[in-house]
Amino acid sequence: MTIPPEIHFKDVDLDAIAAAKGKIAVFIGADGKLDAGARRVNRLTRKALTRLTESDAFGKMDGGDIKTLAYPMGLAADAVLVVKLARRPDMTAARKAGAQLAKAMGDTDLLVVAGRIRRADEIALGLALRSYKFDDHKTGDNADRGAVTFMVSKAEEVAKSAGPMGAIAEGVFFTRDLTNEPANILTTDDFAARLAAMQELGLDVEILEEGDLEKLGMRTLLSVGQGSASPSKVVVMSWNGGGDEAPFALVGKGVVFDTGGISLKPAAGMEDMTMDMGGAGVVAGVMRTLALRKAKANVVGLVGLVENMPSGTATRPGDVVRSMKGDTVEIINTDAEGRLVLADVLWYAQDRFKPAGMINLATLTGAMVVALGHENAGVFSNSDDLAGAFLKAADVEGEGAWRMPMGKAYDALLKSRIADMKNVGGRAAGSITAAQFLQRFVREETPWCHLDIAGVASVKKETAFAPAGATGWGVMALNRLIADRYEA
Ligand code: BES
Ligand code: MN
Ligand code: ZN
Repeated sequence: MTIPPEIHFKDVDLDAIAAAKGKIAVFIGADGKLDAGARRVNRLTRKALTRLTESDAFGKMDGGDIKTLAYPMGLAADAVLVVKLARRPDMTAARKAGAQLAKAMGDTDLLVVAGRIRRADEIALGLALRSYKFDDHKTGDNADRGAVTFMVSKAEEVAKSAGPMGAIAEGVFFTRDLTNEPANILTTDDFAARLAAMQELGLDVEILEEGDLEKLGMRTLLSVGQGSASPSKVVVMSWNGGGDEAPFALVGKGVVFDTGGISLKPAAGMEDMTMDMGGAGVVAGVMRTLALRKAKANVVGLVGLVENMPSGTATRPGDVVRSMKGDTVEIINTDAEGRLVLADVLWYAQDRFKPAGMINLATLTGAMVVALGHENAGVFSNSDDLAGAFLKAADVEGEGAWRMPMGKAYDALLKSRIADMKNVGGRAAGSITAAQFLQRFVREETPWCHLDIAGVASVKKETAFAPAGATGWGVMALNRLIADRYEA
């Protein structure tokens, strides 16, 4: 497991700066004024910072940008990282500055001379998030990251407010690890074992095996996994930090690999389908964060874990299966498998938990990537209230999300000649017809959102807070939604 760097907060001790090893970071606002820490660095380096603030280069720096002064005289450190940042940065600016520090610090120790700068806790979160590296499968060059120390005034207070942020970083890292992990390692068994290990954090974790799913009548879910050597499972994680109120439910698509099944995908790019469990990965990451920060809320996370493979036992196009709800589905395309998994898990979640609200996450459709690219996830909902609350939380966390339409006319595209519905609605509005399919398994009285994260769960280019690969999109927004709605 990739663990976020340990970040220590201690009170300002200007006399410790000269001897600090590794790198030292200081902050200078756009006005070029130096705080006490920067003044000390400036004096020790015989005014290197003054030369920088008086240069044209400083004027051209954006907020959050860093200039590296290498091997400065007067200091034991290898480099001074000068961060241009307002003394009262907003949350996003603080996190971005932290992310830039993570990139600039390399593998050495880092002393961040933050002093009285506001939101040092958010700077630390940005630093932690951007320091993620998935190098479990690289032999050799995976040197340990250095220690990070923030020198701040009122260190104890800052350390306390940074506590929940450590829980967030760990949840996001957990999601990223799961999503990046190749499918020969993250099998359904391995995935379930990683979730079961979270019992140590105080979560209840229950694993439903194929026999249990058969008894519950989850035939649409089982039809997806029946061509694979790996057994299908549903894992239920419960965090009961609230009172006796009904829980909020999070449901994730956990297709550990999606070949398309008999409706086989083309070879080019198929390796990307190792991330087709990204929805389940986000649910797992949120549950981890909630447990680590001991959230005062009741939340249940359910994931359907299956592998979609072609074989002699696989589902054929044209097969008709019965869902746990009782409705029958004509499987026109075995590559539209995520909705079959979710149909049964959504129904089970409502049947068993009568949740106050429910959000599902899934890398559900390629059409979502066509519509919104890698900037925004699609938000589909039967509730303006829940959708609005989620969009707000996502906006605050800087996780792109955009509401999509739904409606009867789209639902009508799912009509089947021989069963209650087909599992695909044709090429037009592919993401919306997928959402309509899911909604058939949502009770009218359950406020519900479907988040199609096909475009955002894993990306080819680095983002502000993650290297290329899994982003952990959604962990922070959902954690905030739960905090705002149930803990405020
Ligand atoms: N897992 C895919 C969707 C996907 C595509 C996720 C690209 C991430 C990136 C899903 O199971 C799928 O194959 N959907 C089909 C649906 C179609 C057969 C109606 C698709 O999008 O092509
Ligand atoms: Mn598919
Ligand atoms: Zn899929």
